[in-house]
Amino acid sequence: MLQHRKILIIDDDVSLQKVLGIQLENGGYESSVAESGQRALELLAEGSYQPECILSDIKMPGLSGLDLLPLLKEQYPLVPVVMLTAHTDLETGLKAMRSGAYDYITKPVRRQTLFETIERALQYYDVEQENNKLKEENRRYQENLERNIEERTREVIDAYQALKDTNLAVVKVLAETIEAKDQYTRGHCNRVRMLSRELASHYNLSEQEIEVLEYGALLHDIGKIGIPEKLLNKCDILDKEEKAVFEDHTVIGEKILSIIEFFNPCLTIVRHHHERWDGSGYPDGLKGEEISLLSRIVQVCDSFDAMTSTRPYRGELPLDEALGELKKGRESQFDADIVDLFIAQKIYRCVL
Ligand SMILES: [Fe+2]
Repeated sequence: MLQHRKILIIDDDVSLQKVLGIQLENGGYESSVAESGQRALELLAEGSYQPECILSDIKMPGLSGLDLLPLLKEQYPLVPVVMLTAHTDLETGLKAMRSGAYDYITKPVRRQTLFETIERALQYYDVEQENNKLKEENRRYQENLERNIEERTREVIDAYQALKDTNLAVVKVLAETIEAKDQYTRGHCNRVRMLSRELASHYNLSEQEIEVLEYGALLHDIGKIGIPEKLLNKCDILDKEEKAVFEDHTVIGEKILSIIEFFNPCLTIVRHHHERWDGSGYPDGLKGEEISLLSRIVQVCDSFDAMTSTRPYRGELPLDEALGELKKGRESQFDADIVDLFIAQKIYRCVL
């Protein structure tokens, strides 16, 4: 619908202002006049008036049409500007179009040309407005989408962290259950966890592997639940039969934890924390690097903490003696590199 669409005429020629004004009013448009480029900029800057098409003369005192054009395009890029040129000056009209004018009309202005040009310019204006609206909607949609994704991601991370905290708390309770049964090992599992994590920080392990290591270290002795208490707390050295029962805690632990899928990655640590580097350990007699790195780390930390804690069959060893025992076990009981790292980096400090 063409009625009442706003056209701004910029022209210093009063008679042309009038002619154009009357023609536009008769054609159903609403026209306004600025007698100079400067005045047009002031009118637009007020903000209350927004033309949908601008007709601008080229030759005007002060700002010429060609000087005004870039200012209009910069501030009102969606409003089409139709230039008015002298009949003899087509080159200027083309130059104006190359500078961003929508079209040009030669003077004297023919009524039909005026209306046809304005109608096309208004259609262009409508399309540009619609495009701009869609772009804006799209931008807002993208912004919302990004915000929603960020929020959801944060929620998922928080939920995952809460779940991890709960898991760790449950596992600590489980570990303490073992310790309650074995009076000599209070705090042992958590210390093995801390030592293992400290040692692991010197290896290039992923966050996931460190998590597995921590759970495995906490739960390595969970199988002791299945071992008679009097055997766990026995002050004498175990006889062959008792030893076999005791050694079963590795396999029992693996069996208990295998019920819960979440613990599957920790099973090798639980099963193999009593294997030995030279192959003389239990339950599988694995050798060297057949034993996983995480299990080898737990072996060293478990042994160190066992040596520096009181056991039913002996008192605690002083630090230097415990470290001496670790050194003695290089390449027979333990992975020599891990022992060396444990001593060189003073890993034990995190539990002293
Ligand atoms: Fe054990």
